[in-house]
Amino acid sequence: MSEPAEQRSANRLVLPLVAFLFGVIGLGVAAYVVLAPGQPKITAAAVGGPFRLVDQDGKPVTEAALKGKPSLIFFGFTHCPDVCPTTLQDVTQVYDALGSKADQLNSYFISVDPERDTPELLKTYLSSFDKRIVGLTGDRAAVDAATKAYRVYSRKVPLEKGDYTMDHTALVYLMDKSGQFVGAFNLQRPPADSAKDIARYF
Ligand code: NI
Repeated sequence: MSEPAEQRSANRLVLPLVAFLFGVIGLGVAAYVVLAPGQPKITAAAVGGPFRLVDQDGKPVTEAALKGKPSLIFFGFTHCPDVCPTTLQDVTQVYDALGSKADQLNSYFISVDPERDTPELLKTYLSSFDKRIVGLTGDRAAVDAATKAYRVYSRKVPLEKGDYTMDHTALVYLMDKSGQFVGAFNLQRPPADSAKDIARYF
């Protein structure tokens, strides 16, 4: 038996919205910490921190990889029906817009679904997008540590026949070339504008 079509389409709208709202709340907390007077020490730790994951080739990647170039970091999963592929497409267009400077930007797509997202699956999935986008996964504990560090919400949502989807924060974070959090990055604009904004951090 399949789910009624309306319900499925409602879920497609509601889940990303819920994920977005959790992201906004999380960012609100981060912004409060950043903007709160007299507590400058907390700012750098607001979003980001240590992680130990593997890329789509099975190579270990830690937060040390964020040093030297600005990075876009976002969380998702390969079975995501709409938000993740859209974000990956948007980031791909930013790389296109950066042209000869594209190698100066790192991007990390971190899986919130490590049970299904093996390095091999990430590699196949990411082959549809810009080759500079690195997929990261790991065991559940390693992924949980990364989501916690980045204040990302994610939750397994059961579907019929034992299948499931993931509800998750859909924000894209910009980190500067020292690996420090700059802010949530807006991809809802022409790619050339996004590219110009990123180039300020090269
Ligand atoms: Ni997604």
